[in-house]
Amino acid sequence: MRRPLVAGNWKMNLDRAGAVALARAIAERAGSLPDVDLLVCPPHVYLDAVGQALAGSRVALGAQNMYHEASGAFTGETSAAMLLDLGCRYVILGHSERRHILGETDQMVEVKVVAALAAGLTPIVCVGELLSERQAGQTANVIRRQIEGSLAGLTAADVERIVLAYEPVWAIGTGQVATPQQAEQVHLDLRTILAQRYNAQAAGRVRIQYGGSVKPANAGELLAQPDIDGALVGGASLKAEDFLGIAAAAEAVR
Ligand code: PGA
Repeated sequence: MRRPLVAGNWKMNLDRAGAVALARAIAERAGSLPDVDLLVCPPHVYLDAVGQALAGSRVALGAQNMYHEASGAFTGETSAAMLLDLGCRYVILGHSERRHILGETDQMVEVKVVAALAAGLTPIVCVGELLSERQAGQTANVIRRQIEGSLAGLTAADVERIVLAYEPVWAIGTGQVATPQQAEQVHLDLRTILAQRYNAQAAGRVRIQYGGSVKPANAGELLAQPDIDGALVGGASLKAEDFLGIAAAAEAVR
């Protein structure tokens, strides 16, 4: 049985005081949701403060990105070891905003995934199609290409240690959520790809989150789908009430 993982991607939002207050509000009520794994991913500069606010709670800390090299002359970048040093257990990699705004390729994502696993971080690897790709009937091909590229160097055992997030780009921050059927179909396609490339055990064990305009009101239906194992939440993760409402929905449909 896969445990749902509900993760908040705070993106480039909040200030230090707001980040700490949000973390505290989530941590205080996390104890009432024992059957869901909870994670928050604040901006890098607030990881330390948020980590301290979460201390002793069951809410995990994660980062929104990292660089694949261990150390050295890489101005502005952050290594996996640095994230671990601040208490991070997860790192989001290949988010669509990094792919489409910052120009990350599958190959760049892949070296980060390998480095994160080697360091002992759990990567949340994001994939998802553009609206034009969905309209052209290309969703399955796009997802396959992203998976094959972003996970190129991984073994079946590695795949069991990652989390995948299916985030249709047209649903991110738009309020236009995928229907539960649309999302479930892609999650099923992802497991089929993994079963073909690796094996049935890896495909069955990997957790696949859905992301894109998840709110308390639509979370229940999405998370009730058999292959949707949690949510990667942007906008709604900035309000403790909404984030916890989504986590409660994940717990209710188990
Ligand atoms: P959203 O973002 O929930 O605001 O649509 C999701 C994400 O980008 O991870």
